[in-house]
Amino acid sequence: MSEQILVEREQGLLTLRLNRPDKMNALTRTMYSALADALEAAQEDRSVRVVLIAGSAECFTSGNDIVDFLQEPPSGPDSPVFRFMRALMDFTKPVVAAVAGPAVGIGTTLLLHCDQVFVAAGARFKMPFVNLGLCPEFGSSFLVPRLVGPVKAASLLMRGEGFTGEQAVAFGIANEALADGAAAIERAREVCLALQQLPPAAVALSKRLLKAPYIDELRRVVSEEGQLFVERLHSPEAHEALSAFTQRRQPDFSKFL
Ligand code: COA
Repeated sequence: MSEQILVEREQGLLTLRLNRPDKMNALTRTMYSALADALEAAQEDRSVRVVLIAGSAECFTSGNDIVDFLQEPPSGPDSPVFRFMRALMDFTKPVVAAVAGPAVGIGTTLLLHCDQVFVAAGARFKMPFVNLGLCPEFGSSFLVPRLVGPVKAASLLMRGEGFTGEQAVAFGIANEALADGAAAIERAREVCLALQQLPPAAVALSKRLLKAPYIDELRRVVSEEGQLFVERLHSPEAHEALSAFTQRRQPDFSKFL
């Protein structure tokens, strides 16, 4: 197991902690594989009752590692990021997230697939796929408009507008905004400990029924977005945007017609 994903166990609670502080917890292929392995094992392990996904008290994640996007981009359903998100979407037990600091790209997208989300009021969310020449991913083009309505969804996904922890609560993406990251993690842990006291089959059935009305449509959208996202990673627009980040310069999209 990679040390950049810390797996902690406390009775029925499994905590997956993103731990790559020098790169703002940017997620690499190795980290996605470790997350997927942990979730797949937790799904089979009857003694795991609830999963908590957290970063540190200062940073959730700056999203997919941009160097990985340039050097070893995901190529399809067998790629580590797809495996991780599939394991998260298929997970039948409750998943809780605690967010502090930046939650960029997939750091926001994955929250749409968690059951309970606790954030620091000052947490900074952003889905800058369009800014990177990419497109919405893992159901965000379906789930975000459902939560916030079409015009706000266009601000978030077509313009890449960021938002705070307090706004995440107003949008229905998070349950509660706490004073800081430590308080968000503590509150998330309390909720996990309460969830693990509940009857597990009733919890799992409730989760399944909550998703049942839209799960087929969600899977269709995830599949379409996935194909388009992989194509976009090879586009000249994405190459310009991703290279600009690694070269610490502003991207120039003026040559694209
Ligand atoms: N991929 C790879 N490296 C990343 C990264 C990412 N997504 N996000 C941050 N890093 C690295 C930086 O390159 C820097 O590395 P260095 O110290 O070796 O130069 C280090 O992490 C610290 O990041 P920095 O940008 O200096 O921190 P900041 O506090 O000024 O800004 C962010 C934080 C999250 C706002 C900024 O790092 C950012 O915008 N990152 C990219 C987010 C993104 O577009 N993700 C992909 C979404 S699909």
